[in-house]
Amino acid sequence: MDYGMKNRLSRIINPKTGKTVMLAVDHGYFQGPTTGLKDFKKNISPLILHADCLFITRGMLRTSVDPAFSTPVCLRVSGGPSILGDLSNEDITTSLEEAIRLNASGIGMSIFVGAKNEDRTISNLGRLVGEAERYGMPVLAITAVGRDMVRDARYLGLACRIAAEIGAHFVKTYYCEDFFKVVESCPVPVVMAGGKKIPEKEALQMTANAVKEGASGVDMGRNIFQSDNPVGMMKAIKAIVHKGASVDEAFEIYSKK
Ligand code: 5RP
Repeated sequence: MDYGMKNRLSRIINPKTGKTVMLAVDHGYFQGPTTGLKDFKKNISPLILHADCLFITRGMLRTSVDPAFSTPVCLRVSGGPSILGDLSNEDITTSLEEAIRLNASGIGMSIFVGAKNEDRTISNLGRLVGEAERYGMPVLAITAVGRDMVRDARYLGLACRIAAEIGAHFVKTYYCEDFFKVVESCPVPVVMAGGKKIPEKEALQMTANAVKEGASGVDMGRNIFQSDNPVGMMKAIKAIVHKGASVDEAFEIYSKK
């Protein structure tokens, strides 16, 4: 890995802890005005400075994020279908040149293993990695889960391993039972997506479990920005991921208004 790639990755994954708390706010790229992201500037601006990295589309970055913010950015570069269509029908929507112009520290795209367009999304990942490596840009592969797929260690392990084999520099996937098996069989860092909003204590417990089982942190959205105390939740997740805080300690941090 060359200097540029290592330097960018170290802006996303803290080299001191080997972990990251990424704030995912890209949901609108297929869901439109998602709950919590409708009034993006008002709701998300107070959270950005607490995040290790912001996972976002170019459109929201350009229109709704203060360029003076120092938080590193990982840019979602895939898309195409909306929530009304075939979600696996994604292509690359944002060029590497644009990612560099926007000063991104990384780029991310989804692969749809087991879905109709798995082959195209996986070969798109291969092409993107090839191009990104020419410029020292890390690629995050997101193992999107089709409606009919079971979120278990066998399936998510398959998807993460394929992403790494194709060359992704880090991978985002969902939590599942025996999550350690997913991490064990994936040679690059695995970060956990939060999934649908669940009660705060459960989200904190899931984070603690994932980290204990080898996750390199989280790229979490709804369980932070849809919480009744998003900044508190952000701080609580950070305490677990970077400081090894217990779930009870983290819940106390979240509860402070
Ligand atoms: C959507 C994504 C999201 O960034 C990812 O799912 C994380 O967000 P959440 O914690 O809300 O699931 O990649 O496709």
